[in-house]
Amino acid sequence: SMLVRSSASAKQSVLRRNFSSGSVPERKVAILGAAGGIGQPLALLMKLNPLVSSLSLFDIANTPGVAADVGHINTRSQVVGYMGDDELAKALEGADLVIIPAGVPRKPGMTRDDLFNINAGIVKNLASAIAKYCPHALVNMISNPVNSTVPIAAEIFKKAGMYDEKKLFGVTTLDVVRAKTFYAGKANVPVAEVNVPVIGGHAGVTILPLFSQATPQANLSADVLTALTKRTQDGGTEVVEAKAGKGSATLSMAYAGALFADACLKGLNGVPDVVECSYVQSTITELPFFASKVRLGKNGVEEVLDLGPLSDFEKEGLEALKPELKSSIEKGVKFANQ
Ligand code: NAD
Ligand code: LMR
Repeated sequence: SMLVRSSASAKQSVLRRNFSSGSVPERKVAILGAAGGIGQPLALLMKLNPLVSSLSLFDIANTPGVAADVGHINTRSQVVGYMGDDELAKALEGADLVIIPAGVPRKPGMTRDDLFNINAGIVKNLASAIAKYCPHALVNMISNPVNSTVPIAAEIFKKAGMYDEKKLFGVTTLDVVRAKTFYAGKANVPVAEVNVPVIGGHAGVTILPLFSQATPQANLSADVLTALTKRTQDGGTEVVEAKAGKGSATLSMAYAGALFADACLKGLNGVPDVVECSYVQSTITELPFFASKVRLGKNGVEEVLDLGPLSDFEKEGLEALKPELKSSIEKGVKFANQ
């Protein structure tokens, strides 16, 4: 009938309005460390994201060039480069999402914890500025050691009185990206269809892929699962060694960072059922921070999902990772409070 048709077309036009580019909300994204190995390709990928209206590129050096370059791309966002601490306030003001790949990367023979002495101070300063200039923004922490830099930021935010545990994320998406790639290779399934949760933290054995929950399912032997687990845990080191002193993963990290940022923006915009793994404040285990699947929403973390059924091998891996993750968390908390 006419009535049905007109209400259906009214509904369609509402849908169209919601999804037309004109009504996509304005979102400012700031990248801190935007001129670095990760920062530059991440700036490129965020410039390609239609959910971004303003792209703020901050670094201690070289951002004018990166911003001029990326800014010529004919996509939605306006790009501005900011250089040096004097411009940090302007870089952050009004940001909905701040992505932090600032800090030094590993060289062969180093652990991520060997970066603590330099990167902890960088993260502390950047977190203080976020607390001051964009206290309501979501924060995506990429700087290593993530297991400690996320607790550092949380402590700085608590001191500033604006900490919201729903808005602070350690980016562990690269572990998921690697687990999917390596699993697809062994399971002989189309990589685009693969899902694998990765839990725990982001360093060595604290990275725990749950291949028992991988889809599409495949009947892999215990030996293959052990090897896949180890390769995922050592994925960062594999790249560090291949780059032989020229740094760590930058391109795959930019991809993973852009994917996670996009999920955060979709959550902010009210898209339902956005679920990604991330290292967040958590009560899933006895540890105060833990990576697991989280549902993203208008305020950041909407729900920390439980781990689901683990194989005996994964249960052992979970117990084995706890002491290292606990001490990395404590090291970060102690640093922020000294
Ligand atoms: P990089 O050295 O190429 O770039 C780092 C950038 O940070 C540089 O441009 C530098 O000028 C900038 N910087 C330094 N101090 C700053 C400050 N106070 N404010 C703003 N910018 C500052 O390093 P990269 O390869 O891009 O790696 C960056 C970080 O990301 C490292 O700590 C690395 O270990 C980490 N990382 C994390 C993951 C992950 O999965 N979470 C993956 C790869 C790398
Ligand atoms: C990675 O996983 O690639 C990063 O954490 C960088 C590193 O040091 O391995």
